[in-house]
Amino acid sequence: MAENDGVEKDFVHLARVALSGRTQDVQTYLHRIAKRRGLTKEFSSALIELLRKNPTRSSPLRKGMEKALPTDTDSRFQLLRVEETPFLQMEPVYTEQVQSTLSRLVEERQNLGTLLEAGLEPTRTVLFTGPPGVGKTLGARWVARELGLPLMILDLSAVMSSYLGRTGSNLRHVLDYAKSIDCVLLIDELDAIAKRRDDSGEIGELKRLVTVLLQQLDDWPSSGLLIAATNHSDLLDPAVWRRFEQPVNFELPQEAGVRAFLGALLDEVAPDMSVWVDILSLSLVGRSYSDIEREVTLARRSAALNGKGLDHYLSLLVTAREHSKQERIEIAVRLVKNGLATQRKAHEITGVARDTIRTHLKNDAILEV
Ligand SMILES: Nc1ncnc2c1ncn2[C@@H]1O[C@H](COP(=O)(O)OP(=O)(O)O)[C@@H](O)[C@H]1O
Ligand SMILES: [Mg+2]
Repeated sequence: MAENDGVEKDFVHLARVALSGRTQDVQTYLHRIAKRRGLTKEFSSALIELLRKNPTRSSPLRKGMEKALPTDTDSRFQLLRVEETPFLQMEPVYTEQVQSTLSRLVEERQNLGTLLEAGLEPTRTVLFTGPPGVGKTLGARWVARELGLPLMILDLSAVMSSYLGRTGSNLRHVLDYAKSIDCVLLIDELDAIAKRRDDSGEIGELKRLVTVLLQQLDDWPSSGLLIAATNHSDLLDPAVWRRFEQPVNFELPQEAGVRAFLGALLDEVAPDMSVWVDILSLSLVGRSYSDIEREVTLARRSAALNGKGLDHYLSLLVTAREHSKQERIEIAVRLVKNGLATQRKAHEITGVARDTIRTHLKNDAILEV
């Protein structure tokens, strides 16, 4: 009874501190509770594990980082975004080639001893290229998570747009800082440097900037990994491009990629809609992963608001882009085969004549026997 009394008091006290929004005090209090005698081991270690996973602003891990996090001298604007424990909503979908390169980057560091013994160093600088929304930023996050390292992101376009006059010193500042910490550094939107080229008033500063970057690329320590990403590799100075040890080209997904991504996405958000994967993977080829994700979210939103059923909105996506005659036939056939539409409905969605659909279905049936 007395024991319960203590627990109740603890609980009320904890609730009071928590409701007042003092995270730091909640932490301190939880620490104290975790160390108390007479608790089960499971309870204490569960608390300690939680405290370890959720470092707040005042915890030792963060303290060290935050004190030194580079800021713009005048505005105090933080130049780096830190993801201490990188987290991925969904596992990324990559081509064999991209995946094997990313995995190798991780393996190199996991087997560092072997490399060093052979007189080799791990890859230090990597350049991610490719259109927007295909997983470049995500790739850096994936690598950091696999390595169990924090991810530091320097969004160059943000830094450049506001602080061009001081970008050179800001950049040096950030790079020096990132070098001193075991982390994966992502310099995102690298082309921001190149894009400003045409503005002649800024050429001097830009030259300095490129020089800083090139120097740092050559000097980057093998204890860290520097990844730069750009949507416009064509804008990059070849001198910059050449300095990276490992280029990785990300591309818009082919049908197989769209299929894998849609499969995983629908599996998570609307498992009963998985039958649409087959058709949508055909009609969404040519779009980026983030585009596809957005389309599905929009469809889900419409379905939730208008009560028309998600399948209705997914069926609108089937004809969201121009398809060749051949593609439209293929889509119509898949609609009927997967039981998503009658021949008439398939005709309405795709515009393919019912006769044509019937003929193809028959031919397919013969082939399958
Ligand atoms: N290859 C991929 N696999 C899975 N999801 C992806 C992929 N590429 C993009 N996405 C989705 O789109 C979002 C934006 O991707 P991002 O990595 O920022 O693209 P990029 O940096 O190439 O412009 C991601 O958060 C993820 O939800
Ligand atoms: Mg990005």
